[in-house]
Amino acid sequence: MASAPRMAGAGVSPVAAALTAEFSSDVVIGLSHTGQKELPSKYLYDEVGSALFDVICLLPEYGLSRAGMRLLQRDSHEIVSLLPTPVLVAELGSGSGQKTRLLLQALSKRQRVNYYPIDISGSALSRCQQEIGQMDRVSIVGFESAYLEGLQEVAARRQEGERILVLFLGSTIGNFDRPAGDQFLREVRKILSEGDALLLATDLVKPIEQLLLAYDDPAGVTAAFNMNLLARVNRELGADFDLRQFEHVARYDECERRVEMHLRSKAWQRVTIQTANQRFYLREGETIWTESSHKYNPAEVVEMGERTGFRCERQWFDAEWPFAQNLFFAV
Ligand SMILES: C[S@@+](CC[C@H](N)C(=O)[O-])C[C@H]1O[C@@H](n2cnc3c(N)ncnc32)[C@H](O)[C@@H]1O
Repeated sequence: MASAPRMAGAGVSPVAAALTAEFSSDVVIGLSHTGQKELPSKYLYDEVGSALFDVICLLPEYGLSRAGMRLLQRDSHEIVSLLPTPVLVAELGSGSGQKTRLLLQALSKRQRVNYYPIDISGSALSRCQQEIGQMDRVSIVGFESAYLEGLQEVAARRQEGERILVLFLGSTIGNFDRPAGDQFLREVRKILSEGDALLLATDLVKPIEQLLLAYDDPAGVTAAFNMNLLARVNRELGADFDLRQFEHVARYDECERRVEMHLRSKAWQRVTIQTANQRFYLREGETIWTESSHKYNPAEVVEMGERTGFRCERQWFDAEWPFAQNLFFAV
């Protein structure tokens, strides 16, 4: 999303109209596909979506988030010992910043920390500010923006001699397909300088049943998270999706090693997007693809870093839920 970066808490966005226009245009493009209809996953995270995501992280089936938390609980001191000094911290897609607190705690024992969370969701950023805002020796400035625009803003604030640590946690990299993930890491690398660090979390391949349950929990929280995207289109773009005529679907593509979330139309239906003055038709059984979560193996993650201008310093693994935390340095 090409949103202009803005400091969180700066009041009503001067670019709100442009953001709505961009949302509308992305929705129209995604629903106009002649083959698979799609909606970009970044739009899952409005205020409701971000709150639902926080609940997903509590679900027993969604082991991914707890694995990331356990690793940071166990390894933060070691990670910090491998980082250059002084270092500022920029986090891509911080969400509520719960995990990050653990790392910042360890780092703040060594130095005062400037922490810059970057998130497209203003409400996630507010939670992050609540979570981290009171920490001793940590100051926080949030950027409500897309990843790369935010990172550019942060890099422009670096002091002479200061390094950057970029956090990309929660295996959010998995939302990109593999070529786009490479391209994204290359863009991140371009903003960084040699010796800067990237801590990248990656969910690893595991049995399909375990993966599908993580994205289709019996309590229906993930279904609500997915369905909220249509509700958001209704709220913000004056559309008339009938949510009762859709169901949440999670499927695993073995070739691509990814879980896909879709919304399946239960009937033939017509949808109007008022702001765009456009109409779309869905057949019974047709789906709208809303999110991908790619799964990795450890060697592939090292190679992904090497292909995109980094070297892997260390990987840490969780024993309960196959998941890796990978520390890279820009070369
Ligand atoms: C899967 S959640 C992960 C949150 C947190 N890092 C964690 O590990 O729990 C992804 C986060 O990235 C944010 N996000 C998604 N797409 C984004 C984009 N293009 N630019 C900035 N933030 C984005 C979402 O709002 C959400 O808070």
